[in-house]
Amino acid sequence: MSDMAVDTSPEINTKDLREKKKEVSPRLLLLLLLSPLLCASQATPKPELEPCELDDEDYRCTCNFSAPEPDWSSGYQCMAAVEVEIYGGGHSLEMFLESADIDPRQYADMVKALRVRRLTVGAARVPARLLFAVLRALGYSRLKELTLEDLEVTGTSLPPLLEAPGPALSALRLRNVSWATGGAWLAELQQWLKPSLKVLSIAQAPSLAFSCEQLRSFPTLTTLDLSDNPGLGERGLAAALCPHKFPALQDLRLRNARMETLTGVCVALAAAAVQPNSLDLSQNALLDTANPSVPGCIWPSALNSLRLSFAGLGQVPKGLPAKLSVLDLSCNRLNRAPQPDELPQVESLTLDGNPFLNSGASKRHESPKNCGH
Ligand SMILES: *[C@@H]1O[C@H](CO)[C@@H](O)[C@H](O)[C@H]1NC(C)=O
Ligand SMILES: *[C@@H]1O[C@H](CO)[C@@H](O)[C@H](O)[C@H]1NC(C)=O
Repeated sequence: MSDMAVDTSPEINTKDLREKKKEVSPRLLLLLLLSPLLCASQATPKPELEPCELDDEDYRCTCNFSAPEPDWSSGYQCMAAVEVEIYGGGHSLEMFLESADIDPRQYADMVKALRVRRLTVGAARVPARLLFAVLRALGYSRLKELTLEDLEVTGTSLPPLLEAPGPALSALRLRNVSWATGGAWLAELQQWLKPSLKVLSIAQAPSLAFSCEQLRSFPTLTTLDLSDNPGLGERGLAAALCPHKFPALQDLRLRNARMETLTGVCVALAAAAVQPNSLDLSQNALLDTANPSVPGCIWPSALNSLRLSFAGLGQVPKGLPAKLSVLDLSCNRLNRAPQPDELPQVESLTLDGNPFLNSGASKRHESPKNCGH
């Protein structure tokens, strides 16, 4: 390199830009495990501690880019892995943004060759445009499960030009992901996914008040897990369960979601026209008795499993569905054995970890469970 005066002619600038793009693109692609072609030029071994580690079976690869100046190229070794976890150490991924415009058709064949089935991306600030560019590229992959955690998604992005160009995921899990777009985020994210999702889990969400009119139906979604949203409440549940958007729902999980009354939950389910057969309300401080001024709600007719463990219950709550296969009342504060007329018809009843079982007077054989009270 010479130290000649800076040439400001437009031609050189364009060239510089191209060079810069060439250099940035591989870094983006490797981050996304998308550039096997470029590997050959990156073979220099590095003696320091690598941010990424690939196990001996080439199965699982984990990267932790928490160093101040992480060596992003360490991610190349993850390209053979089936399970990949990438933690950005809180870094902003904005520097990869200019590569978001590359047409993924250019490297579609390479993406198709990736073995990755489960991908976790966490601990970073990522522009929405980059996130959606990644999803678009992953449309050529056989990725099945995507987990996003501790992410701050910044800015906005244009909707896809084509219908659902992204991956055919079966499971999408989000934990502590914030979006600049507020309540529209799920509808936006959904546009980048093929309509194959079976499991959707959203924990520690800043907003679950979805823009229902923008949301499309999730035709194959059987499990919706909104656990670990301690600010949700029954009203929030009613806002999150957009009516008729979850027609195939079987399993609804609402652990630790500030549910307070069974009636309130029941009303929200009825309003959303969801028909789960399994409902998990564990780890909510449920009020003991049904409010007599609220008329009893009609539970979904398919409901056959209800979990109410760690719910602080001092008695069997009123207003349970009349018939259940499974009722879990473990780890509550029941001081006496429930009488038959207090319980619904139930095939499998779990009462472990309630005080009445420790009294010694019980004839039940259930071992006292450690409930961590
Ligand atoms: C990444 O490494 C940092 C520093 O060693 C550590 O504090 C952090 O917990 C690690 N993150 C993950 C997800 O393993
Ligand atoms: C949630 O994610 C942000 C980054 O977006 C992080 O700073 C924060 O510590 C995370 N919170 C928890 C409880 O992990």
